[in-house]
Amino acid sequence: MTKAKRIVLSSDHAAIELRQTIAKHIETLGFEAVDIGPTTPESTHYPKHGEAAARKVASGDCDLGIILCGTGQGIMMSANKVKGIRCGVCSETFSAKMIRAHNNANMLSIGARVTGPDLAIEIVDAFLKSDFEGGRHGTRVDLMEAIAN
Ligand code: RB5
Repeated sequence: MTKAKRIVLSSDHAAIELRQTIAKHIETLGFEAVDIGPTTPESTHYPKHGEAAARKVASGDCDLGIILCGTGQGIMMSANKVKGIRCGVCSETFSAKMIRAHNNANMLSIGARVTGPDLAIEIVDAFLKSDFEGGRHGTRVDLMEAIAN
């Protein structure tokens, strides 16, 4: 039996409920949800939650990551500061599929104040069901990685 893919999840205070809904959902799909919180509603700072999730992916402890904040933007920018992380914000399913297929994204970000829960689940499904196509897209991802200093 192949090992279930480990998916790290994190958010700030703006997205706790949606994050927990997504964590439960991906478990039903057979993934292992590594939900690193937070779980209490006090205001917190998205950069530390984005970085914590990104480190788990960059280190290889988790295969992919799903992160959320109010817009999905701040936590995505924070995660992308970690070397080896390719994270995009998605508010529709086509981009969620294409960031895997063409950009080899290893993290997905969603804005809980932008995207409703049903669509968020569809976005997560599109991301997790897609695979990197490689080929010319691999050349481009390598070029992108070479920009990092
Ligand atoms: C928090 O109020 C909000 O700024 C944060 O969740 C996020 O939208 C930042 O990008």
